[in-house]
Amino acid sequence: MSNQTTILITGGAGFIGSHVVRQMVANYPDYKIINLDALTYAGNLENLRDIEDSDNYLFEKGDITDSAQMERLFNQYRPDGVIHLAAESHVDRSIENPNAFVETNVMGTINLLNAFRALWQDNWEGKRFYHISTDEVYGTLGETGLFTETTAYDPNSPYSASKAASDHFVRAYGETYGLPYVITNCSNNYGPNQFPEKLIPLFINNIIERRPLPVYGDGNYTRDWLYVIDHAVAIDLVYHQGKNGETYNIGGFNEWKNIDLVKILCKQMDLALSRSEGDSESLITFVKDRPGHDKRYAIDASKINRELGWKPSVTFEEGLARTIDWYLNNDEWLKNVTSGAYQSYYDAMYGK
Ligand code: NAD
Ligand code: TYD
Repeated sequence: MSNQTTILITGGAGFIGSHVVRQMVANYPDYKIINLDALTYAGNLENLRDIEDSDNYLFEKGDITDSAQMERLFNQYRPDGVIHLAAESHVDRSIENPNAFVETNVMGTINLLNAFRALWQDNWEGKRFYHISTDEVYGTLGETGLFTETTAYDPNSPYSASKAASDHFVRAYGETYGLPYVITNCSNNYGPNQFPEKLIPLFINNIIERRPLPVYGDGNYTRDWLYVIDHAVAIDLVYHQGKNGETYNIGGFNEWKNIDLVKILCKQMDLALSRSEGDSESLITFVKDRPGHDKRYAIDASKINRELGWKPSVTFEEGLARTIDWYLNNDEWLKNVTSGAYQSYYDAMYGK
């Protein structure tokens, strides 16, 4: 039997997953990297065109909610490690259809844990299950304070409740069966390849098309933004150097109120599109608030900084400029993902 390290990455065709796959394929030519993804509306193999022919990469279409399929695939590939990113990831969709979030995020995670256990029969030497989670499990903050690794879970949306449940199951498998796990809880990501239902790519796309920019409520909601490639670097680091049974918070030290962020984005877009100043800002439209809208998220990322030496490398200005650049240079990608089903989602969510 070969001694080659095999890592199975779930959700590798999605936004963050595609950056993780690309980085692992480039950094570890000796590993075998398996990308397991169901290719839902959010998964897109176009994200990985540049590396799809690499010798150390393989794509497998699979659905983590199918337990028999997961057992079969785990037996076939015998992964030493799992980096689990597959999820339903959009809060607004979770408000419309919570069940899909329970099925994928909770049941899907349990299926992976079971398949990993069944494969290795609790002989865990050299094995690792890395579960990717979100800061949203901690609920909401007031004007001050930061989420740390010991902040009590207090999820408010069906999305964050499903992620919290999956985090608990991973931890429980660690305690109960000795499954070697690590969990990271990260703040809001932005960057190339993000599906244009999330704030930044949605607004970039709407500005390009001169559609209204739907700011929820008064826009005074705060998020902590991290450039996706810095997240992928952190994931590589935690996978290789994180301690079993530990949680690490990952964040950008970069808090913005939505309305301030949108105004900066508008300015940069005006410049990039050679439109007159104020053009994009005039598209801002305040709309009905999201139910249960968390007021503020902010991460204390000092543990991963102290213990593993990670910190963000890209400033917000730079990251935003690179993101805008990417969307403007990839209009084909944007066109492909915003055709078909996207239109009906958009009409249902925001009206025609
Ligand atoms: P995404 O929605 O862009 O991608 C999710 C991927 O999972 C897609 O490729 C999709 O096809 C796949 N998938 C969905 N259901 C599946 C199933 N049943 N079986 C197999 N594959 C399936 O999500 P993202 O923004 O890249 O987030 C990835 C992970 O990171 C998620 O677990 C999310 O909770 C977490 N996270 C995201 C953010 C963020 O800001 N985007 C922040 C912190 C944590
Ligand atoms: P989002 O990108 O959906 O991420 P999350 O809800 O996981 O933080 O939203 C980021 C913030 O932007 C959040 O406070 C909701 C707000 N928002 C809008 O104001 N309008 C929109 O159309 C969207 C999608 C989000």
